[in-house]
Amino acid sequence: MKILAIETSCDETAICIINFRKGSNSFTVEKNVLISQIEIHREYGGVYPHMAKREHIKNLPILLEQVIGDEKNFKSVDAIAVTSGPGLSPALWTGIEITKKISAEYNIPVFPINHMEGHIYASTLLNKNSSKIKKVKANSKKELKQEYYFGEVKYPAISLLISGGHTELIFMDKEMSYKKIGATLDDAVGEAFDKVARTLGYPYPGGPEISKRAEMGRKVASTLAEELRLPRPMLHSNDLNFSFSGLKTSVINKVEKYELDNEKKDLFCMEFENAVTDVLTKKTREALYLYNAKTLIIGGGVSANNHIRNVMQKMCDEDGVKLYIPGRELSTDNALMIAATAFAKVNNNVLALNMLESQNIKAEPNMNLDNVSK
Ligand code: KG4
Ligand code: ZN
Repeated sequence: MKILAIETSCDETAICIINFRKGSNSFTVEKNVLISQIEIHREYGGVYPHMAKREHIKNLPILLEQVIGDEKNFKSVDAIAVTSGPGLSPALWTGIEITKKISAEYNIPVFPINHMEGHIYASTLLNKNSSKIKKVKANSKKELKQEYYFGEVKYPAISLLISGGHTELIFMDKEMSYKKIGATLDDAVGEAFDKVARTLGYPYPGGPEISKRAEMGRKVASTLAEELRLPRPMLHSNDLNFSFSGLKTSVINKVEKYELDNEKKDLFCMEFENAVTDVLTKKTREALYLYNAKTLIIGGGVSANNHIRNVMQKMCDEDGVKLYIPGRELSTDNALMIAATAFAKVNNNVLALNMLESQNIKAEPNMNLDNVSK
């Protein structure tokens, strides 16, 4: 079966085609392309929804041409998977509109996909080729198609979703069953990284920049000045919720009050990263205990953060929990995660919408995980 997947929920326009046999555990990536709008939004310090829409509209036909080539190749596509939420409404609509058009013209069924479910599936994907890549490089005539398979997930599982728009703990008693057990009461963790970076004068997106600075901070011989210590919000709140807006305000206040040279800034970024990691780890550990979980699945753009990855791995090793965290190429938004989710739906006998039904798909900017199709 061939699935064409389209992702336009935020500031990446991404399309891919995967190929698989129903019932198998692995798929081959035929094409996988992405245009990032980061440079465009950077000027404004964040993502502007209407500019994102304009860019998606410009990029979609270019990428579609790259993956499909001749229009007659649409005939070999068995289903389209498109992100229908959550995300920025104008951005989501661009992917949905083009999907509807292709679906109607070539009579192709459609899987509307929840972006956060995509992040969960992306985390459990393992690359089959990583060990073969060296061999093929030696004989470069051969083109190596990327092949992925789903790692085995033992349930119950907990999923920690950390991105620019989400900070959520999800309980999964089985595959495709999602219950939200904790969430941020205000800012998402990625949003906090982005705002703190802006306050310190670093470019958008803030996560990678803060992370780089924090790494340097860890190498600095001096220690953090007492007045630059940051709070760990809701660490002892006795629930599984988070709050990052107070932490962000605390950063802003200190930046206004104290003169920070580069070395102090590095230490301050380390303190911010530590504060975020402390809270995420404590709450996730509580969730794992409370639900007797065997697996932890971390997904979303912030999972690219090295420090969070290391600390979570250590915690899972100590607790005997299997950790899935996405490969770097799969941590931020991409189309492969949307295709992989549709593949999982096929294997779980979830039916795609037919061409007529697919014309009613709507963008759902606040789409929840609790009611995805299963
Ligand atoms: O999942 P994603 O690509 O888009 C959304 O669905 O939101 O996540 C983007 C977020 C941004 O806030 C970005 O700053 C953050 O992920 N991010 C990071 C890192 N790389 C990306 N945050 C912390 N450390 C990183 N290395
Ligand atoms: Zn995302």
